[in-house]
Amino acid sequence: MEVDNLRIRVLNGVYPPSEDTYLLTDNLPRISSGLALDMGSGTGIIALKLARGADRVIAVDINLKAAINTLLNAKLNELSSKVDVICANLFYPFRRGLKFDLITFNPPYLPVNDGNGALERSWSGGRGGIEVIKGFLYMLPTFLKEDGKVLMVISSLTDLGSLKRIASRKGVSIKMVKRVWVGLFEELYLLELKLSSTKSLN
Ligand SMILES: C[S@@+](CC[C@H](N)C(=O)[O-])C[C@H]1O[C@@H](n2cnc3c(N)ncnc32)[C@H](O)[C@@H]1O
Repeated sequence: MEVDNLRIRVLNGVYPPSEDTYLLTDNLPRISSGLALDMGSGTGIIALKLARGADRVIAVDINLKAAINTLLNAKLNELSSKVDVICANLFYPFRRGLKFDLITFNPPYLPVNDGNGALERSWSGGRGGIEVIKGFLYMLPTFLKEDGKVLMVISSLTDLGSLKRIASRKGVSIKMVKRVWVGLFEELYLLELKLSSTKSLN
């Protein structure tokens, strides 16, 4: 498929670009430098859009097929010199001191437990839809620059109350940037997260 002048191949077992993906790709800030992180990169579509502006992008996915897919699409679009791909769980591969200007995350946000298959982990957010997001928020203050920001998608089915409580404990502020209906009973929310206090860790 072709999206925003990017050629995107989707390998079997990898989350295909969907409404939540486009909520992010359509609302990325214009950047002309800096270090960006695309967490849960899937096909790599968001990482590749970031790579057009950022100095360097790191794409992380826990699903090995997704990491390979991201790398493949980076090469297909001649952006592999700007994109490093890591198959890992959240921020675990990073050393303390590495700080990102911009982080994007389209996480597994649905309050379901659809099993432990690699593809199911794309949407299974466990209890309240926040099990993976929780881990992300715990580590975020260590890896986000003081003036950096995160763009993250969740759904109206996600437990936003618990998410806000955890974020506030970690000194992270949340702003709703955009909301769109997907079907009759679900909305997608695009959230902007920033460090709200002195809790930025070195
Ligand atoms: C909803 S998909 C989004 C994929 C792609 N970013 C997009 O928007 O089309 C969520 C992605 O997060 C990855 N993921 C799930 N848990 C993760 C974790 N703990 N660490 C890193 N990636 C994870 C999944 O493998 C999946 O590729």
